[in-house]
Amino acid sequence: MIVLGIESSCDETGVALVDASGSQVPVLLAQALYSQIDMHQAYGGVVPELASRDHIRRVLPLTQEVMTQAQCSLAQVDVVAYTRGPGLAGALLVGAGVACSLAAALGRPVMGVHHLEGHLLSPFLSADPPEFAFVALLVSGGHTQLMRVDRVGSYELLGETIDDAAGEAFDKSAKLLGLPYPGGPALARLAQHGDGQAFKLPRPLLHSGDLDFSFSGLKTAVLTQAKKLGEAMGDQARADLAASTQAAIVEVLVKKSLKALEQTGLQRLVVAGGVGANTLLREQLNAACKKKGVRVYYPELHLCTDNGAMIALAAGMRIQAGLAPLRRDYTFDVKPRWSLAEMAI
Ligand code: KG4
Ligand code: ZN
Repeated sequence: MIVLGIESSCDETGVALVDASGSQVPVLLAQALYSQIDMHQAYGGVVPELASRDHIRRVLPLTQEVMTQAQCSLAQVDVVAYTRGPGLAGALLVGAGVACSLAAALGRPVMGVHHLEGHLLSPFLSADPPEFAFVALLVSGGHTQLMRVDRVGSYELLGETIDDAAGEAFDKSAKLLGLPYPGGPALARLAQHGDGQAFKLPRPLLHSGDLDFSFSGLKTAVLTQAKKLGEAMGDQARADLAASTQAAIVEVLVKKSLKALEQTGLQRLVVAGGVGANTLLREQLNAACKKKGVRVYYPELHLCTDNGAMIALAAGMRIQAGLAPLRRDYTFDVKPRWSLAEMAI
């Protein structure tokens, strides 16, 4: 069972092929990715119209590249999967349109995949994949959620952000510090030279008693500090403020993840989404979970941010679990806003 996956929800065009034969965890055969970061950098963030147009330019050459890499012909593809949402409407329509046209031409079924299900299952492509059940910490540019995952398709929302996502907090704070888009990795790099204790920044909802997050107050606090320092903000103060921001975000994510593990009694934590690439988050989660006897699983670093492999994988795992809404009508819609809980069975 060869699945072709196409991801185009935001600023990365990703295409991949997985083999989802039998009941084994699907195997990644090939993948190709084009990041639009350089193009959007000039504007300080993603410009949706430019993103859509660039997906149009990239998606077919990337598909050809993947087929060549895997030494596979399109006729061997059994299912074409694409990201149906959530994401930018125009960008999603490109992937959906191409996937459905390709499938129609090949006479194969299509599947619209939930982007967050892709992130959440992405650690299954690593050498040491998790077993079910686990708590998932989903931390991307648009989402911050804790979920209980009992099997493919069984997703219970335990808590989520009530305002900004963790990635957004990284990106917006980075912008305030004059760093280029995407801010998360840039802020993390600057933070390496700073002291995380230098500035006292808020840890919103840390003691709220539930598993929800709030990061918009943190961004305001960073803005207040940056204004206070004003023109006098030297390199060291900037690095200290970056480190203090990162420390605040990471502390909240770690404490709430531990609380979710405690509340569910589960012994496995899966961390997925772009912010999952953050080194401090990984170090602190590893240390805290080790103390509690909890195992932490991450996607391979290159699969933390958006990619086609996770979309092909999620489709493959859904087919194997008998959950696939495989379609042959080739009409399509996209879901720019779409809760993962809606996918639950
Ligand atoms: O999952 P993702 O690639 O796209 C979405 O689905 O949103 O996540 C992108 C987010 C951005 O906010 C980016 O700044 C953040 O992940 N990010 C990081 C790091 N790498 C990516 N944040 C902190 N540290 C990193 N190393
Ligand atoms: Zn994503």
